Amino acid sequence: MVISLRHHQVVAFLKSNCDVCHIFSFSLLRSSSRLFSKPLLPNRSLNVAVLGASGAVGHELLELLLERNFPIGDLRLLASARSAGSLISWNGSKIKVHEVDQDSFEGVDLVFTSAGGNVSRKWRDAINSAGALMIDNSSAFRMDDSVPLVVPEVNPKEAFNHKGVIANPNCTTILLTLILSPLSLKIPIKRVVVSTYQSASGAGAKAMEELKGLTKDVLEGRNPMSKVLPYSLAFNLFLHNSPLQANNYCEEEMKMVNETRKILGLPDLLFSATCVRVPVLRAHSEAVNIEFVSPFPVEKARQTLSAAQGVELIENFKTNRFPMPNDVAGFDQVAVGRIRQDISNPNALELWLCGDQIRKGAALNAIQIAELLLSS
Ligand SMILES: NC(=O)c1ccc[n+]([C@@H]2O[C@H](COP(=O)([O-])OP(=O)(O)OC[C@H]3O[C@@H](n4cnc5c(N)ncnc54)[C@H](OP(=O)(O)O)[C@@H]3O)[C@@H](O)[C@H]2O)c1
Repeated sequence: MVISLRHHQVVAFLKSNCDVCHIFSFSLLRSSSRLFSKPLLPNRSLNVAVLGASGAVGHELLELLLERNFPIGDLRLLASARSAGSLISWNGSKIKVHEVDQDSFEGVDLVFTSAGGNVSRKWRDAINSAGALMIDNSSAFRMDDSVPLVVPEVNPKEAFNHKGVIANPNCTTILLTLILSPLSLKIPIKRVVVSTYQSASGAGAKAMEELKGLTKDVLEGRNPMSKVLPYSLAFNLFLHNSPLQANNYCEEEMKMVNETRKILGLPDLLFSATCVRVPVLRAHSEAVNIEFVSPFPVEKARQTLSAAQGVELIENFKTNRFPMPNDVAGFDQVAVGRIRQDISNPNALELWLCGDQIRKGAALNAIQIAELLLSS
């Protein structure tokens, strides 16, 4: 009987405060505190909460949970007071969004958090105390040594070392590591130089709406006034707006550096990034220069990436056709192409990639992590 009780039932049981309960309470509490000694999720339909359900990543998570037939018992949609009470259509019914509070996670097995770092930090203990696993899309815990940072195609084993939280990496980093990992398994990588072309959707649902509205403003002769992003993206681009660090790289660029090193297990990897926002609605692109310890024949790189999990080659040199954001928007695969020898360095390759960062760069990756931990 004890083993079949859920954590919230255990708590309710103990709260009833009878003498007999005290006899059992010590062993019950010990068993609930050991919830994460087993990394796998329970072997049954799971009670799942999405914190940030009204956002861009939350929306994609809900679509993908359905599409991938994730074993859901109860689905709880959480956000701030701003969208509490709104209804979201899911699997033929309308589910109400609730404002997150201390009781939101009782009875929940798994929480996908996509509401920003402060929200993740605020609710981590409540989630874990309720016995739920947190798969976090924010940057709050990514560089914490005790938190695995997982891209399932690259370092799946790390997911099993969690202590209640697994971090989903930065979106541009996920897309890039899908390419770097299979190449580095053939010939070690020495240095990476990357420039990103990041869509409005990377800044959330409101930034996407802003790009549409400001584009209309420009086309109709009005002055585009941005409110969500610091400058108008309409017919414009600007360096990534995350805070500048002491070394004059922005936070997004340093996330790419540090997270790539952690995921690939290469703490000394030389890495430099320039991140740029571009007026694309959805899906990021990256121009990547990879220096290996020795020459990497282009054909071998092409074969390696063609066979890599989660990667698709789009490359036609005759027609000058290579990946574009529109090729991958709404799709799972990261598209790569224009793989070529760097004419300035015999040990380096140049390539171009595009990936849907709301999907593989966030929601899909998070669900794939959870799928690794399904018991059967
Ligand atoms: N967009 C991407 O491509 C992407 C990729 C990777 C990671 N991420 C990360 O995922 C997270 C969400 O990004 P997003 O693009 O989905 O943002 P978004 O579209 O702006 O959505 C934010 C969500 O968080 C909720 N929220 C905000 N403040 C909250 C609070 N105090 N308490 C509870 N809920 C709150 C919002 O609810 P309301 O509707 O109530 O405001 C909304 O549901 C961020 O940490 C972001 O860095 C995003």
